[in-house]
Amino acid sequence: MKIILALTGASGIPIGIRLAEVLKREELSIVVSENAKKVIEYEVGDAKKALAELGGYGKIYDEAEIDAPPASGSALFDTMVVCPCSMKTLSAIANGYCHNLITRSADVMLKEGRKLILVPRETPVSAIHLENMLKLSRLGVVILPASPAFYHKPKKIEDMVDFVVGKILDSLRIENKLYKRWNAR
Ligand SMILES: Cc1cc2nc3c(=O)[nH]c(=O)nc-3n(C[C@H](O)[C@H](O)[C@H](O)COP(=O)(O)O)c2cc1C
Repeated sequence: MKIILALTGASGIPIGIRLAEVLKREELSIVVSENAKKVIEYEVGDAKKALAELGGYGKIYDEAEIDAPPASGSALFDTMVVCPCSMKTLSAIANGYCHNLITRSADVMLKEGRKLILVPRETPVSAIHLENMLKLSRLGVVILPASPAFYHKPKKIEDMVDFVVGKILDSLRIENKLYKRWNAR
C-alpha cells in the first residue's frame, strides 16, 4: 500500500513514530511539520535522532516541500494518516486551506476520494474542534482520536501506544496483534 503519514505538532508524537515503524513494510512517505519537530523535542528528546529514525521507515519530507509527490493526485497514494493531528491542521483540512505539504496532501486525498485518517489529540475540545471533526467525518474522513482503552489492562505506555496504533491499522485493514481484542466470554 502507498501511504502518506504526517506528524503534526499535537501531543502524541510517540504514537506517530511507532505507527511509522509498523508501516515500514509499506511504501511510506512521511511528512513532519515544523511544529511537530518542536513537540518531538519535548516528548522524545533529540529531534535530529528521531527524524533519522523516521527516515529509516520511509521517505521523509518537510512541510515546505509543496512540490513533493504527495502534493499531487497523480502520485496515486492509497491512503493518508495524520498522527498526531493538531487542531490547527485539522481545521486547515476541514476548510481546504492548503498552506503546506500536509494540508495539500490531505486535500488531494479528499478530492480524489481516497482514504484519510486523522488522529486528533486535544482535551477538552471546543465547539469549533467538534464542528471541524463533524464536517470531516461527514466527508468520509476517519476521525480516530488518540484515546487508549483500559479494558486490556495496559502495563506500560507502549501498550497504550500500541492500542491506538492497532486501531489505526484496523482502519487501514492491515492485520495486526498490537492490542488484545475484546473477548469477555
Ligand atoms: C508540547 C506541546 C504540545 C502540544 N499539544 C497539542 C495537542 O495535543 N493538540 C493540539 O491541537 N495542539 C497542541 N499543541 C499546539 C500545536 O503545536 C500548535 O497549534 C501548532 O501551531 C500546530 O502546528 P502544525 O499543525 O502545523 O504542526 C502543542 C504544542 C506544544 C509545544
